Amino acid sequence: MLIMAHDQKILLSGVKPTGRPHIGNYFGALKQFVDLQNDYKSFFMIADYHSLNFIQNAKEMRSLSLDLTLDYLAIGLDPKKHTIFKQSAVSEHTELAWIFDTITTVPYLERAHAFKDAENKGKEVSVGTFNYPMLMAADILLYDADVVPVGQDQKQHIEITRDTAEKFNRIFGETFTLPEPLIMEEVKAVPGIDGQKMSKSYKNTIPLFATDTEIKNAVMKIPTDSRGVEEAKDPETDKVFAFHKLFTQGQQFGDLKDRYENGGIGYKESKEMLIKNIINFVTPLREKRSGLEKDLDFIQDILSEGERAAKKCAEEKMEDVRNKIGVTL
Ligand code: TRP
Repeated sequence: MLIMAHDQKILLSGVKPTGRPHIGNYFGALKQFVDLQNDYKSFFMIADYHSLNFIQNAKEMRSLSLDLTLDYLAIGLDPKKHTIFKQSAVSEHTELAWIFDTITTVPYLERAHAFKDAENKGKEVSVGTFNYPMLMAADILLYDADVVPVGQDQKQHIEITRDTAEKFNRIFGETFTLPEPLIMEEVKAVPGIDGQKMSKSYKNTIPLFATDTEIKNAVMKIPTDSRGVEEAKDPETDKVFAFHKLFTQGQQFGDLKDRYENGGIGYKESKEMLIKNIINFVTPLREKRSGLEKDLDFIQDILSEGERAAKKCAEEKMEDVRNKIGVTL
C-alpha cells in the first residue's frame, strides 16, 4: 500500500559538527538513523549553531560542517528521500529558541546535566551552553517530529523538549507535537579501548572512518590480563570480547565464545581476529566517504536542497507560532 507523505511519522535528529565520529557515536546513534530512515519522513540536521559553543573559528566550522555532511552520506543516509540540512540555514530555529526562552525559567534550565557538567568544570558557563536545550527543543518542535533517535546522553534534552512543548501548548493553545526519544538499549554505551564508555574526552576512541593503522593501534592498546592461551576467560568481563560483540558475527562469534569459556584462545589471536573484523567493517564506509569527498559541489547541492525542504516546514510552523503568540497584527 502506498503511504501518503502526510500520514508518515516524522523523525528528526542532529549531530554537532565537532570532529571525526567514532564507533561509539555510530553504534550509539548514527546507525539508528540509517536503520530507521525509511520508516519515517526524516530530517537529519547538522547542528552548527550548537557547535558554535565549542568551535569559534570560521575555517574550522566550515570544514567540520562539510565533514559531517560527508559522514552522514557515507554511513548511508539517503538525500534523495530525506532532508539533510544545516541548522544555521533555517533561521526559524534561533527565532523559536528565543520564544522558548521567554516561557522557561532559570532554575529549570539549571537542572540540565550538560549545564551542571559545564559548571562543575569551574569555568564560567556561556549563555549559549545554558540555553542549549531551548535551541534543541526548537530544532525538534519546528518539524513536529514524532521520534528523535539519540544516544543515551541526550535523553534529558528530549524530556526538556517535551516539557517545553507542553508548556507552550498550555499557554498559547495546541501547537506542538510531543516527541519520543528512541534510544537503542543494547548498545547505549559502547566501551572505549580502556573499558570506560567510549568518548572523545577520555581519549579512548576508535574513529568510524579509521585507517587500518589506527584500528591496529587502538586494538593493541586494549588492556588484557596475563592469562595464557589454554586458560578459560570470561567473555562478559573481557575488554577485547566487548568489541567482538559489535564486530564478530555468526559462527565465528559462537566459536570464539566457546574458546573463551573453555580455554584455547589467547589475547593475541583474539585481537588479530578483531582487527580484521573492524577493518572489514570500516573499509567500505571509508571508501564511500573518500569517493564523495572528491565532489564537494554535489555535497553543496544536497545541502541547498535540504535547506529548501527544511525551510518550507519551519516557515509554516513559525507562521502558526507567531499567530498564536500575537506578534502578527
Ligand atoms: N544535542 C545533540 C548532541 O549533542 C545534537 C542535537 C542538536 C540534536 N539538536 C538536536 C539531536 C535535535 C537530536 C535532535 O548530540
